[in-house]
Order: sequence, then structure tokens, then C-alpha cells
Amino acid sequence: MVKVGIVGAGFMGQMHSNVYAALPEAMLVAVADIREENARKVARSHKALPYADFSKMLEKEEIDMVDICLPTYLHAEYAVKAAQAGKHVLCEKPMALTLEEADSMIEAAEKAGVYLMVAHCIRFWPEYLYLKRVVEEGELGELNSISLRRLSPPVTWSWEDWMGDFRKSGGAATDLHIHDTDFVLYLLGRPYSVFSEGTRTRHGWSHIFTIYHYETSPTAMAEGGWDTTPHFPFSMAYTAYFEKGVIDFNSARDLALTVYEEDKPPYSPSIDKPQAEEVEGIGNIAAIAGYFNEIQHFVNCIRDRKPPTVVTPEDARTSLEIILAEIKSAETGREVKL
Ligand SMILES: NC(=O)c1ccc[n+]([C@@H]2O[C@H](COP(=O)([O-])OP(=O)(O)OC[C@H]3O[C@@H](n4cnc5c(N)ncnc54)[C@H](O)[C@@H]3O)[C@@H](O)[C@H]2O)c1
Repeated sequence: MVKVGIVGAGFMGQMHSNVYAALPEAMLVAVADIREENARKVARSHKALPYADFSKMLEKEEIDMVDICLPTYLHAEYAVKAAQAGKHVLCEKPMALTLEEADSMIEAAEKAGVYLMVAHCIRFWPEYLYLKRVVEEGELGELNSISLRRLSPPVTWSWEDWMGDFRKSGGAATDLHIHDTDFVLYLLGRPYSVFSEGTRTRHGWSHIFTIYHYETSPTAMAEGGWDTTPHFPFSMAYTAYFEKGVIDFNSARDLALTVYEEDKPPYSPSIDKPQAEEVEGIGNIAAIAGYFNEIQHFVNCIRDRKPPTVVTPEDARTSLEIILAEIKSAETGREVKL
């Protein structure tokens, strides 16, 4: 049984705690949050112990891994602390705000001999895994081009509005759009350059449009933004154009995933999701399949003593490196080489 301590019991801390409740291989034993009432609330629902102080949790609890669901500007500091205490580290995306911070996390984990995985959940999301499989197996021929899109209403839930402060979150480019940048990296590899434009507000780059350049791979572009209005629905979407068909996904639609082949009526392919099991107090875990698959992968890596392979620390660092290049491109109006 892998014993877990969560630090940061806000939006994502609660989400992760629900996944542990549905995972037989893991047990949530402690939850830390500087807002003690948050730690208590999450801990109570999962029969774990609450802490207001992360260092005390590290000192007192025999945990195997720390799950960091803190605001992004705290990721590096807490990941280094957890690694130095000999705990494996799962850290929410984005890895950090700078490459120096990312390097400090990688170095601390290597030195302590613990695993470090950044929670790039789209690498585990069933509709995106389906696309990756079709590209790799070539059942619709070559992928000619792809566009990805992620749009959100303005984020209003975050603690002390840290997400609205680009010095703490990196703005929509670093916080939201990095999901698609990371998936482009996973699907097509490292681009040789990027060209971005976008909308800059007092919250930093609140909307960004990027073209990723490859020597031989298809044309790829992605758009991400949260400069919408409060009732605008969240959506993540992609359209992938192959030689013999188009795959179109939009999470905000009823028939979210649809394939359009030349000689067939449009159809929704069946995709692998974790068992559509109802978990008491949580609902159907198939609805949070990406988070479930991601956390299960990390827990199993610890259980089986095998380093995580789907997202390596270097992958997460590269995603951040690409995002920083995108921001530089938007700022300068020039293509930025990687
Ligand atoms: N993977 C995803 O789909 C996804 C979605 C949303 C957010 N995120 C990421 O998850 C992370 C957390 O975001 P969130 O939306 O949960 O934020 P949040 O503001 O809802 O939660 C952060 C929590 O951390 C607590 N906290 C702040 N400083 C602390 C400290 N020093 N010690 C202990 N607790 C402290 C706050 O009290 C709050 O409860 C961010 O990195 C964000 O980018 C990922």
C-alpha cells in the first residue's frame, strides 16, 4: 500500500484526494494546507489526518509520497523539501515558473533517489490517448495537421487569487495552455521553433496562439485562453486532419469525440476508460479518467519500484522550456528557436 500526503487542499488537492479514495493501491493518510479548515475538510472525507504545517506532516507521518497541489510558485520549494525528506514527489503542472526552479527539483529528486513526476494529465486523458494511438498505428494514414484549443472562463476560485497574478501562475499561457503544449511534445516531439501571438492583459498572457515548427512532422497549432466571460463554458478540443479522415474532439459537446472517415458515416469510437465505477461521495470515476490514470501510474511506479515513464522530469522541464519560448515569441513578435 502506497501511503500519501497531499499538500494544498484547494481545487486540485480535493480532486486528487477523490482519486486516492478510488485507488485500492494507495491510501491518503495526511493532508496539509495553511488554511487548516481546508486540510480538515479534505482529511475528514478520507479518514486522513489534517496539518496546517507541511513540515510537521513530513516529520510525523510515515508517507511514501507527497502530492503537491500548491500554487505554482511554491512547487519547487516544496518538491525539494519533500525529496530531501526521502519522499517520492507527484507535483501538479506546470512544473515551476522558471527552468532554474525545474532544475532544482530534478537535482533534489536525483540526489535523494526518489521519483518525481509532474502531473501532465492530458498524457493520460482517454480521448488524447486515442488520438496518439491512431497516429502511431496509422489507421487513418499520415497525420497532416492538428489544431488544439483550450478555453476557460476566468479563474475565480484560487487562494488569494494567485492564478490572476502572472508572477505566481505565469498567466493562462503557463497555467492553462501548457496542457496542449505538453501534449504536442508527447505526440510530435520537440519542435525546433515556435511562433506565438496573443492577448496581454494585467494578468499576463491571457490568450495565446502558437504554431509549433517541425522539419518533417505535421503542422501543429494550439490556442489557449481564459480571457472569456464568467458563463463561457470550459472546453478542451482538438481537430486532427489525417490522409484518410478527421478526428474531432470537444469536451463541451454531447458527442465529444467523433471520427469522420471518407466512406463511412461519422462515428464515436469506443475508448478505454477506467471502470465506470460509482465511488461513494465522488460519483463516477470515469468522469475524472485522466487524473485517475495519471495518479494510478505514479502509485504503481512506487509500488513496483519502476521510474515513471509517461512523463519524465525532463519532459516536464521541456514543456516549460517551450512555453517560455512561446511567451518570448509573443513578446518579441519573432519566431523563437529551441
Ligand atoms: N491538472 C489540472 O487540470 C489542473 C487544474 C487546475 C489547477 N492545476 C494546478 O494545480 C495547482 C493548484 O491549483 P488549485 O487550482 O488547486 O489552487 P487553489 O488555490 O484552489 O489551491 C491551492 C491551495 O494551497 C493552499 N496553500 C497555499 N500556500 C500554502 C502553503 N505554503 N502550504 C500549504 N498550503 C498552502 C491554499 O490554502 C489552497 O487551499 C496549480 O499548480 C495549478 O496550476 C492543475
